[in-house]
Amino acid sequence: MLPRIHPDNDAEDWQGLQIISRGANRLCARDPGDPSHCLKFELHSSERTRVGARQRMRRWLAVRFPRFGENETELRAYGKLRARLGTGTNAYLAACHGLVDTPHGRALRCDCILLDDGTPAPSLYRCLFDEPRYPAAMLCAAVDAFEAWLVLHEVPLFDLNAGNFVVLPHGDQARLICIDTKSVLSGKEILPFSRWSRSLMRRKIERRAQRLRQRIRAALGEAQ
Ligand SMILES: Nc1ncnc2c1ncn2[C@@H]1O[C@H](COP(=O)(O)OP(=O)(O)OP(=O)(O)O)[C@@H](O)[C@H]1O
Ligand SMILES: [Mg+2]
Repeated sequence: MLPRIHPDNDAEDWQGLQIISRGANRLCARDPGDPSHCLKFELHSSERTRVGARQRMRRWLAVRFPRFGENETELRAYGKLRARLGTGTNAYLAACHGLVDTPHGRALRCDCILLDDGTPAPSLYRCLFDEPRYPAAMLCAAVDAFEAWLVLHEVPLFDLNAGNFVVLPHGDQARLICIDTKSVLSGKEILPFSRWSRSLMRRKIERRAQRLRQRIRAALGEAQ
């Protein structure tokens, strides 16, 4: 049985779990057994945001075949990248450890990306719209570094939206950690040309990174 979570419960306790954040499809909570981990629960269909036909099809499949669910997709995507790139992923991706059965339902256990004070690092989305704490130029430089890593290793991670990254201070700079790699496997294209051709992949990563930098500048009110 999937957990049912009321939208107003964000940032509060839910059945004794401390919620970190709610995405479009999942709720992320701290692991009560280990503060260095978090647990991701797939939301019940009535609690997810509205999406287009292709995403609705994925959700329909996921209800019948867990393999198509966000958690299994993310676990496979992360496992594939970790197997190919080894510990080099640690500075860029939050590690996923596996699916666990909890009293609250099935969850994906991941490393929780933490600030030095032990609180979860804020998402890039939060740094743009809720609690700005880094200048646009610093966040754009962090996107540049992440983009360079994706291009160097030919990682087809295309869903570069601000909710899929958390931000950590890094000396006098900032760096991004991707906490949701499922787009490595679940693309929106019917014919995934950009996964077959290196130059198309690179161009698509560059377009998405450019769009993210534009959003950062627009949100923080700096010149494009
Ligand atoms: N490993 C992590 N460490 C710290 N915070 C995390 C972690 N994973 C997720 N979060 C928090 O939870 C939020 C949602 O995570 P995630 O993107 O995995 O959910 P989602 O349902 O796939 O979201 P969406 O469908 O909107 O992309 C993130 O924006 C972030 O604030
Ligand atoms: Mg996400």
